[in-house]
Amino acid sequence: MNLLDVKDLAVQFSTQDGLVYAVNGLSFDLAKGQTLGIVGESGSGKSQTVLALMGLLARNGKATGLALYHGQNLLTLPAAELNRIRGNRMAMIFQDPMTSLNPYLTVERQMTEVLQLHKGQDRSSARAACVRMLDAVRIPEAAKRIDMYPHEFSGGMRQRVMIAMALLCEPEVLIADEPTTALDVTVQAQMLLLLRDLQQDFGTAIVLITHDLGVVAGLCDQVVVLYGGRVMEQGNAQQLFKSASHPYTLGLLKAVPRMDRDDESLLAIPGAPPNMAHLPKGCPFSPRCAFADAQCHETLAPLQALPGETGQLRACHRDVALVRSTPQPELAHG
Ligand SMILES: Nc1ncnc2c1ncn2[C@@H]1O[C@H](COP(=O)(O)OP(=O)(O)OP(=O)(O)O)[C@@H](O)[C@H]1O
Ligand SMILES: [Mg+2]
Repeated sequence: MNLLDVKDLAVQFSTQDGLVYAVNGLSFDLAKGQTLGIVGESGSGKSQTVLALMGLLARNGKATGLALYHGQNLLTLPAAELNRIRGNRMAMIFQDPMTSLNPYLTVERQMTEVLQLHKGQDRSSARAACVRMLDAVRIPEAAKRIDMYPHEFSGGMRQRVMIAMALLCEPEVLIADEPTTALDVTVQAQMLLLLRDLQQDFGTAIVLITHDLGVVAGLCDQVVVLYGGRVMEQGNAQQLFKSASHPYTLGLLKAVPRMDRDDESLLAIPGAPPNMAHLPKGCPFSPRCAFADAQCHETLAPLQALPGETGQLRACHRDVALVRSTPQPELAHG
């Protein structure tokens, strides 16, 4: 059974420049213990997608569509009910840990408060549960460290505290927004393994946001590739890595560093992400796409299932076989 059923999610912001269509027509479902990756460059709409689900959009933002959690539409749920779900049944690890940890309170105060609020536990049993959770995310000497302030932890340790805090109420759905970008590569890898272990222990469903396709490879069951607020390609992660079919996904894959290639072959997608207030008329990727023709510049391609392949979707006018078989010499060295 699906925990989360998202259908045709859209997020719009009203700005002085007019409406910004940050997310358009996004649909996915998520079952217990499954991981969905949302990938895309900066500004593609990853954070706004999950902030919409958590009811945390900025004031000038509005979400439409359906986001069913146990049959209730999160997008229209009254604040009080959303608060009961948030931090309890659905939890989020934010992009920057310092924005969600209070620098003036010890980790113990912040963590025990969650259990006191959502589970009605008393302070001492809450403290014991928090120490166990800090142990679980491998914070050494957790019983002592819990009384420290956030700034007394290193970046990697703070990120672990965030994960521990998000998992305290054993959420069914964990949303992790670039949980490792602030960390060095070794710690990144440790954190991702940790998330995977915790998922196995708790059966948590995870929505993992990253701009790095390499991170998705080992961890996700499904992937959504976003560009300019639209889904470019979507499907089973293994399958999508083996047979990417959208020029943007192919570009992202070429930009993933790999042990078996030297740096010479590491290619960046030329050009910059679009200005969301002034998107091109047709496919948002068309100005940077080596395959784009007049049709691509004029009209958006619908997101459609690829023939004969289980559930893989892509939004592209150009022939799949052509896109897959053409080396992309136009791509510049990054
Ligand atoms: N309050 C706002 N008003 C207007 N536009 C906004 C607002 N918040 C976000 N946006 C726009 O929505 C778009 C998507 O933003 P989002 O935060 O989802 O990007 P992202 O994919 O998470 O990028 P990053 O990888 O940099 O975190 C951006 O172009 C951003 O400028
Ligand atoms: Mg973001």
